[in-house]
Amino acid sequence: MDGNARAAVDALFEAGTLEREPLRELIDGRDGETADYLFEKARVRQRENFGNSVYLRGLIEFTNYCRNDCLYCGIRRSNRNCERYRLTEEDILACCEQGYALGFRTFVLQGGEDMRFTDGDLCRIVSAVKSAHPDCAVTLSVGERSRESYQAWFDAGADRYLLRHETADPAHYALLHPKELSWDNRVRCLYDLKDIGYQVGAGMMVQAPYQTTDHLITDLYFLRELRPDMIGIGPFIPHKDTPFRDKPAGTAELTLFLLGILRLMFPQVLLPATTALGTIDPRGREKGILAGANVVMPNLSPAGVRGKYLLYDGKICTGDEAAECRVCMQNRIRSVGYEVEVSRGDAPRFRRQN
Ligand code: 5AD
Ligand code: FES
Repeated sequence: MDGNARAAVDALFEAGTLEREPLRELIDGRDGETADYLFEKARVRQRENFGNSVYLRGLIEFTNYCRNDCLYCGIRRSNRNCERYRLTEEDILACCEQGYALGFRTFVLQGGEDMRFTDGDLCRIVSAVKSAHPDCAVTLSVGERSRESYQAWFDAGADRYLLRHETADPAHYALLHPKELSWDNRVRCLYDLKDIGYQVGAGMMVQAPYQTTDHLITDLYFLRELRPDMIGIGPFIPHKDTPFRDKPAGTAELTLFLLGILRLMFPQVLLPATTALGTIDPRGREKGILAGANVVMPNLSPAGVRGKYLLYDGKICTGDEAAECRVCMQNRIRSVGYEVEVSRGDAPRFRRQN
């Protein structure tokens, strides 16, 4: 680590931001010693805002049908080898029931863009989960829809929405997506969601094909403007049945470094140590927590469908029951000196007074 790198980390720690050039030098010139220093500073911000708590979200992957054809994604519509499934409303409620008993107080209903689930269906599902578990938060993650749909689900009780921006550079966006999708609509969705009152999660893959350091810096500045409540990042991992099958995977090393930078730029943001990070490195999620992450999202999907929600190759936790994942996660978190918190784990600006 040279003096510039240390000064850059110190400046990020103090000011929460850095100009493009020093940020580029910090990222491109990073070494192990700089990373350790960055993570130490990130843990200071993490501790100030969240103590040693890690929040849990139970992920329910309720449909892998998708109308989109994103070039990186294993459940893209043109993947004929993907065996499709949909959970019923009863299945989803049963997952939540089981999750509640395991200490989950947030349920993330995630799926492909499956129009078979109409606005009304999702309203019914959201309000059924909320009335069964009034002390829980419901997060939706079902892609791009109209403002009216988002509003209807919010009115039905949905609290949060996850929609990664994927890349803040429109030209890069076009290289990762089919031409029917536009960066403008993605960003429109994100601002609509915020405006409606959702706690919003955005984010990007690390080392997605064609991504440069400049793109990543553009992502950081885009996030600064959007001010999301949650930022999900994970390494790109190729899927064998996609056009990006031969593209190199992203590394845990750069993902962790970016987690550290994100914690310093967004001290209060919810930052998950993602499944993709745990897939690329067996201790990736633990390392993520030590780099500043404070959320984990164990899988609550029924064991029978887990192996079908494969966005990328090698995905972990596909063979485990919800209860096993929960225990495994708790042990992992404790192994690095943190504790699982049983609460909704709202973003600080949404925390209710008690
Ligand atoms: N590798 C890593 N992450 C992926 N995602 C989709 N496909 C892949 C892949 N091959 C991420 C996208 C998406 C989120 C649900 O999963 O960022 O928004
Ligand atoms: Fe799922 Fe370990 S977290 S099996």
